[in-house]
Amino acid sequence: MTDVKLYSGETIPLEMHKAKIIQKLNLPSIDHRLEAISEAGNNTFLLKNRDVFLDMLTDSGVNAMSDKQLAAMMIADDSYAGSETFYRMENIIDELFNKKYFLPAHQGRACENLLCQVFVEPGSVVPMNYHFTTTKAHIVLNGGTVEEIFMDEALQVTSSNPFKGNMDIAKLEALIEEKGADKIPFVRLESGTNLIGGQPHSLENMREIRKVCDRHGLMLVLDASLLADNLHFIKTREEACKAMSVREITREISDLCDVMYFSARKLGCARGGGICTNDEEVYLKLRELIPLLEGFLTYGGMSVREMEAITVGLEETMDEDMINQGPQFIEFMVSELQKKGVPVVTPAGGLGCHIDASSFLPHIGQTEYPSGALGSALYLVSGIRGMERGTMSEQREENGDETLAHMELLRLAMPRRVFTMSHLKYAVDRIAWLYENRDLIGGLSFVEEPKILRFFFGKLSTTSDWQTKLVAKFKEDFGDSP
Ligand code: F0G
Repeated sequence: MTDVKLYSGETIPLEMHKAKIIQKLNLPSIDHRLEAISEAGNNTFLLKNRDVFLDMLTDSGVNAMSDKQLAAMMIADDSYAGSETFYRMENIIDELFNKKYFLPAHQGRACENLLCQVFVEPGSVVPMNYHFTTTKAHIVLNGGTVEEIFMDEALQVTSSNPFKGNMDIAKLEALIEEKGADKIPFVRLESGTNLIGGQPHSLENMREIRKVCDRHGLMLVLDASLLADNLHFIKTREEACKAMSVREITREISDLCDVMYFSARKLGCARGGGICTNDEEVYLKLRELIPLLEGFLTYGGMSVREMEAITVGLEETMDEDMINQGPQFIEFMVSELQKKGVPVVTPAGGLGCHIDASSFLPHIGQTEYPSGALGSALYLVSGIRGMERGTMSEQREENGDETLAHMELLRLAMPRRVFTMSHLKYAVDRIAWLYENRDLIGGLSFVEEPKILRFFFGKLSTTSDWQTKLVAKFKEDFGDSP
């Protein structure tokens, strides 16, 4: 993207790509949407894509691919063992990340499963800047616990701190002192910290974490799934890094960690994942599990076509025009919403635009799932599908008590190079309308509640007939417009 100034005085982010292949979209009527969201139990995960206009559920596996990625898919070398495709992928990993061992896996959570099976045991404690849902689940499944050592500002919805994803170094030191380094299998840092609004860490912070790890002989593991966004923020927000190229920043980040894993559904804009390291012992321990859990060592559960696309996608991640597309569109949406008074997470992060459901719907208590209710209401009035990132995404305690989320967010993901400026303007308009009519929105309660990761398959009903009232107000204001 390039910021250009228009004759009118307005500055807009201009796309540095054009569409060569498109997918037709459908904007169903509000009556149809009411039926669809009721059938989906007010859970946006359960909506059918055919009923969705703008799919902002996630960026995972749905970023637009480039012509070069599609072309590369045609030269994939389909063989069970020894595929040339694997060696091309291994090469790019070594070239960009300076890591000689690469272990392929079918997606990010598979990497987490492998790492946790090998390194986490009952009693283990894993310090991290913030958890991700699947990461925590794998650590807990193997008997460990997660310790989040974020900075105080990380959970403040509005802030001017450019690196809310940083780890608090003093707290990390104190935690190691308290638990003992022998209980800590590794320290985990997540780039583009997902659950606090796609917030980055700085390069400086990572250097400090490395020093602490060195002092205590600890392994540093980087979750690089959202590295592309984080690279953009380091390049544009960290004064000392402005003169560095994206390639140099990438190289220093990877040199600072012992192990790096990623979901290639995000990093590399295709579908897959992998773990890389220079540590032979770590490599050999992980390698044993790959043929058992993922597939042979030269594909690890991925299609070779996807592997070719990831290889090109990783190289394209070094292009500033490519990695700034998501963050600049997100920033545009965040600032337009702010102008209309809608509460959003600031500074704008990567991954998506995050709406603060606690301030949007202060009349709905956390046990009636404000973020889920907002997600349901937004779909109803716009056909836009977001993702609940609040109490619904937490798990109940053993005794049945709710675990209240730190933040109640509705995430509107911005898959890279997928949406256009008019899509964004439409989204901003409908969210702003909803904000003006927020008093009409009510809560939700579970009617079907799975025990584990309930947000995926759980079904909820509305606590009153608020949706009917919202539909009536929509028709009053918009008439026949969908
Ligand atoms: N780590 C981070 C930071 C992630 O955001 C994700 C996935 C994973 C690991 C797991 O990777 O999906 O390939 O198994 N995040 C997706 C999302 C699901 O929608 O934010 P995966």
